[in-house]
Amino acid sequence: MEVKSVVEVLSEDTKNILGLQLPTDPRWVDLASLSLEAILTDHAYCEQKAALTCISLIQKNPDKTELVQQLAPIVSEEWGHFRLVVNELHKRNMVLGKQRKDAYVNRLLEFQCKGGNPDDRLLDQLLTMALIEARSCERFKRLSEGLTDTYLRKFYRRFMESEAGHYTLFIRLATTYMPEKKVRSRWKEWLTFEAGVMEEMEVRGDRIH
Ligand SMILES: [Fe+2]
Ligand SMILES: [Fe+2]
Repeated sequence: MEVKSVVEVLSEDTKNILGLQLPTDPRWVDLASLSLEAILTDHAYCEQKAALTCISLIQKNPDKTELVQQLAPIVSEEWGHFRLVVNELHKRNMVLGKQRKDAYVNRLLEFQCKGGNPDDRLLDQLLTMALIEARSCERFKRLSEGLTDTYLRKFYRRFMESEAGHYTLFIRLATTYMPEKKVRSRWKEWLTFEAGVMEEMEVRGDRIH
């Protein structure tokens, strides 16, 4: 399976970024710019959950050396992102709000293969992460291009680049442990499912997804 470099990914037509089938509703950036404290809070928890999920993947797969080696630094990176976002809130005299129910991620989790073969479960866990990274990257791209504040545009550009790198890492990890053909065909199913979820979701400016 072809895994594109971060540079290639970012220079693609934004409508087709990372293979996502449905671009973000253009109204979303305007709504997000009106609720900065809420969007930063939500973003902070997304970073925290990314770190926690990587820790959990390591705990569940200690014998998979490549996975452990690849994900250990991502834990630090995602936690660093959490700190950056929280710092941004505090700098603006804003407060980290309460964690909200993550409707987008919960919908994706429903699609994960639960029983059966452990390889199939791992594949779905890795593809879920790849998908969340891809959609987050697309959202950060929208913010980095659509906000009027130059500082915030740069702030989100940095996250966009980093999450694009993570997207490729999760896909690559999947192909390390599972046949490429299987990864590619399941990835297609995930992309279709995610487009359906996006279509269902209400457009709201206080959520990253
Ligand atoms: Fe991150
Ligand atoms: Fe990430």
